[in-house]
Amino acid sequence: MDCALTADFAWPALLQARSLLHAGVHELAFVERGRGWTCEAAAALANGEVQQVVFLDDATNARHRPHVAASVRCSTLQWRDDGMPGFRHDRQAADGAMLTVLGVYAPVLLGAATARARGGVFVVGHVTQTLDGRIACANRTPQWIGNAADRRHAHRMRALCDAVMVGASTALGDNPRLTVRDVPGPEPKRIVLSGNGSVLRTDRTLRLFADHGCEVVTRANVAAASPSGVRRIDVEAPGGGLPPAAILFALAARGVHSIYLEGGARTLSSFLDADTLDLLQVHIAPVVLGSGLTSFVLPEVATMQTAHAFAMQHATLDGDVLLSCRPRQGR
Ligand SMILES: NC(=O)c1ccc[n+]([C@@H]2O[C@H](COP(=O)([O-])OP(=O)(O)OC[C@H]3O[C@@H](n4cnc5c(N)ncnc54)[C@H](OP(=O)(O)O)[C@@H]3O)[C@@H](O)[C@H]2O)c1
Repeated sequence: MDCALTADFAWPALLQARSLLHAGVHELAFVERGRGWTCEAAAALANGEVQQVVFLDDATNARHRPHVAASVRCSTLQWRDDGMPGFRHDRQAADGAMLTVLGVYAPVLLGAATARARGGVFVVGHVTQTLDGRIACANRTPQWIGNAADRRHAHRMRALCDAVMVGASTALGDNPRLTVRDVPGPEPKRIVLSGNGSVLRTDRTLRLFADHGCEVVTRANVAAASPSGVRRIDVEAPGGGLPPAAILFALAARGVHSIYLEGGARTLSSFLDADTLDLLQVHIAPVVLGSGLTSFVLPEVATMQTAHAFAMQHATLDGDVLLSCRPRQGR
């Protein structure tokens, strides 16, 4: 399968899929009729002019699988035992570029929809790192490590999720906007994690405070007023870090059912360590720093058996590697 991720041609169909899933339609057909790809409810698929179709559903046996003419190229997403997406080809396979797009984005779309239906939160972590696993130079100067295709991918992911979240040090140090600018699409809620309330106490006007503002998750006993543009979400915690499960519970209660967690290291690590990451996307840039901040900061482990293990697939973004990793028990 072609693993170059060139998703622009499929982006309108992915946004349609997001809307259908939000509306409770869970059995989808991505359809190509010669005028580009669309996404439709599988049950309503009309055969006319269909050249290729990819069925996508979050059930093992779709109830509304329509008949598809023999001339139509047809593939169906199927989950592998390790939780990664694969495809069954009922006849000539659908276009490899589309299957690559769906291999990357379908787990996000369907994971978010399932979490919404169950009242939970689907969490996708993202990190852009060097070959030696660094996410920032030692001096912490804000710099983009990835390429333009990775940035575009990050903006797509923001548009597909209910919220984007970063830690306080990233909000203060990088001063990001966390908006959807490189592609058309809905703006997610912007959330900063700040257990001790450092973001609430800053005297700077962060970009996150502008436009539709942001939400700051903090400990309930932190005494700090909210700057203009900031809404506080208090979570009860005796001290130290906030338990990620409690953060997700508070966010689900506010209608957030999918989160794109964009770092930094301590934030991503706290979610990984608490087994609250559903998917981890790692963009690898072909550079070595040899120093600087590592992608994860976790307690020491003594054996490989106790390391965090993943099932993994790859795609490429303009030559750089994008790994999609699903946590699993043991290697
Ligand atoms: N390459 C990339 O993909 C990428 C992405 C993002 C960031 N970065 C880089 O990463 C660096 C920042 O990373 P970092 O690890 O130092 O900090 P960080 O993860 O951005 O922020 C850490 C802070 O977030 C809050 N926090 C995180 N988890 C928490 C939890 N479970 N409970 C309560 N509060 C929590 C705390 O804020 P309080 O102190 O307020 O309690 C903590 O001090 C920057 O240099 C940035 O440029 C790189």
